[in-house]
Amino acid sequence: MTAVLELNNLTKSFGDNLVLDGVSLRVEAHEVVCLIGASGSGKSTLLRCCNLLEPATSGTISLFGVDLGGDEVRGELVRREVGIVFQSFNLFPHRTVLDNITMGPRRALKVSKHAAERKALELLERFGLAEKANDFPDRLSGGQQQRVAILRALAMDPRLLLLDEITSALDPALVAEVLDLVRELAASGMPMLLATHEIEFARDVATTVVFLEAGRIVESGPPREVLVAPRDPRTAAFLRRYLAGDETSG
Ligand SMILES: Nc1ncnc2c1ncn2[C@@H]1O[C@H](COP(=O)(O)OP(=O)(O)OP(=O)(O)O)[C@@H](O)[C@H]1O
Ligand SMILES: [Mg+2]
Repeated sequence: MTAVLELNNLTKSFGDNLVLDGVSLRVEAHEVVCLIGASGSGKSTLLRCCNLLEPATSGTISLFGVDLGGDEVRGELVRREVGIVFQSFNLFPHRTVLDNITMGPRRALKVSKHAAERKALELLERFGLAEKANDFPDRLSGGQQQRVAILRALAMDPRLLLLDEITSALDPALVAEVLDLVRELAASGMPMLLATHEIEFARDVATTVVFLEAGRIVESGPPREVLVAPRDPRTAAFLRRYLAGDETSG
């Protein structure tokens, strides 16, 4: 079957700094692939290459079987089909929650105001934020803002979500509500590729865990293997550091 996303031997250099060194991976329909690894291992760069925010140096990226190497039509495909959410929520501060969510569909997809608002309200309702629709982002907690940022991505009807450390900027008390939302999306079958330092969450939600070190995949597989009984000593060392509390993946 055609993969949602397939990377083949992807490399990325910044100057002479080789940041991704031959990464190959697949995200299949309904899969949640979690990237883990120390700070600087290349997780964000990998996600940004998948979204064409960074041009890869070599290798191929295909989205639903379409090779993304090159022209603007491919950029269009990515913008339409792939949602990305970052650690910093980047909501527009002078727009209400509802406007933040409807702006993309109205502008990029030419959805009518009425239809966009109906859909946004459905999403807000589904994820327990209906009463925030007319508030400005600064009236929301960090966890609520991040959930709105995810709903904003969902409003575009993406067929793949990329999530980059979406809980890193949050107080620990607010992490759970965001992870619950992601868990529900995973259960609904949304394919996701995400970078996380929440190892327990990865164990819980991932179909595949990918451990990156210095831009290479050291080990990948189901969480019960990679996170519980890793085969590679480097994975084991990373997990030990994480458990000891001095993990520094951002
Ligand atoms: N725009 C850029 N220009 C130059 N170097 C960059 C750029 N973006 C990333 N890098 C370098 O690429 C390497 C990988 O960075 P990246 O942000 O992908 O790591 P990461 O795994 O996401 O780390 P973290 O866990 O801290 O988020 C680092 O050495 C970083 O300095
Ligand atoms: Mg990062």
